Amino acid sequence: MKLKTIALTTVSTNMTPAQKLYEGKAKIIYTTEDPDILLAEFKDDATAFNAQKRGTIQGKGSINCTISSKLFQKLAADGIKNHFIDSPASHQMRVKAVKIVPLEVVVRNIAAGSLCKQTGLELGTILEKPLVEFYYKDDNLGDPLLTRDRLRLLKLATEEQVESLINLALQVNNFLQDFWKQCGITLVDFKLEFGLDSQQQLLLADEISPDTCRLWDMAQSDPNQRVMDKDRFRQDLGNVENAYQAVLQRVLQLLES
Ligand code: TMP
Ligand code: ASP
Repeated sequence: MKLKTIALTTVSTNMTPAQKLYEGKAKIIYTTEDPDILLAEFKDDATAFNAQKRGTIQGKGSINCTISSKLFQKLAADGIKNHFIDSPASHQMRVKAVKIVPLEVVVRNIAAGSLCKQTGLELGTILEKPLVEFYYKDDNLGDPLLTRDRLRLLKLATEEQVESLINLALQVNNFLQDFWKQCGITLVDFKLEFGLDSQQQLLLADEISPDTCRLWDMAQSDPNQRVMDKDRFRQDLGNVENAYQAVLQRVLQLLES
């Protein structure tokens, strides 16, 4: 017993304790003993409509972290640089510390969500080519859609970075469309975030999960039954946990096969 106490004391004086750096709607970010590495802890909390709707999706933290970790590893193997290092627990991911670019990059293959609301396009309309959109990541402003000129005006990214972001987003779309298809899922749209590392290199960051992608079950034609993503929560469609679990199972099955 005595030896154990001494060992624990020694460890705690040698290491910098983890500090909570930031708490967002779906994740808590902690510092680690290495300034270049952060720990992201995924929460079960769910919000929608800029946090006007709040709830809990049991198991979401672990599910989203696991799916994101697998996808980031596959994307890295495919040449898409990202912030993933490893996953010490099912709801935790160690990531490279990056300066997040305050943009939400959305790619759409099929009309849904705000695209339908703002343009009148019918839900489910297949887009001739993927649409890449930039939203200003600012909760106080309600994450507004940006024009290219507004992006320039606000100097949120250089022209070169904007071109890189579009190219990277389209590459990720090609990868994800194929990946989800193999899971029997149609990728409707998704949101990406990027960060800059100490060498000013753009790295894909944040998460890729049923919170950030619209995913439709290919085996279902009913517009409510096919939904396997956060729209079940946003639109009160029920069976939210089951849908997240089902997505995870399909991902794990595909990776094991
Ligand atoms: P939207 O149709 O509501 O603009 O959403 C487009 C995609 O972005 C959809 O897959 C959901 C995802 N998304 C987020 O990940 N976070 C957000 O805050 C919002 C509004 C959308
Ligand atoms: N995550 C966003 C929020 O709570 C919205 C969403 O995902 O629909 O504000």
